[in-house]
Amino acid sequence: MERCSLVFFIYTLCTVFASEPSCPVLSRYDYEEKILERVIRNELVLQTTLQSIRETNEKVIAELHALQEEKVKINAVLEIIERKQTYIETYSASTLTNLSKALLEIQERSNRIDNDTIGMIHTS
Ligand SMILES: *[C@@H]1O[C@H](CO)[C@@H](O)[C@H](O)[C@H]1NC(C)=O
Ligand SMILES: *[C@@H]1O[C@H](CO)[C@@H](O)[C@H](O)[C@H]1NC(C)=O
Repeated sequence: MERCSLVFFIYTLCTVFASEPSCPVLSRYDYEEKILERVIRNELVLQTTLQSIRETNEKVIAELHALQEEKVKINAVLEIIERKQTYIETYSASTLTNLSKALLEIQERSNRIDNDTIGMIHTS
């Protein structure tokens, strides 16, 4: 009974001088409470950081998917451009060939008209 009241006395003293670091029982309790608080605070910060990392990771993956889709679209457009270029080159070459053939034919017909006219003049 006497021991119990002594503990109570020390506890009361410690409560009164709670701010005193010299109070060994309470300051130890205070210290542990502060450490616990810090651990909890750090855990919260860690959780927030992890959540942020997870969100960033998801965003990066989404961006990569979007980039992949863009790449596919760009490749399709590039293929179309390439095909058109090949077609235009072939068509241009063919047109040039046909045009020079047509020009040669016109020249030949023109010469024939000249020859025929000259022949007509000579025979008449
Ligand atoms: C050139 O002439 C060929 C033969 O007549 C024809 O098949 C081809 O389509 C022509 N090219 C163009 C560009 O018109
Ligand atoms: C026209 O006459 C010239 C000279 O007489 C000849 O060289 C040429 O081949 C002739 N052209 C045609 C289309 O008959």
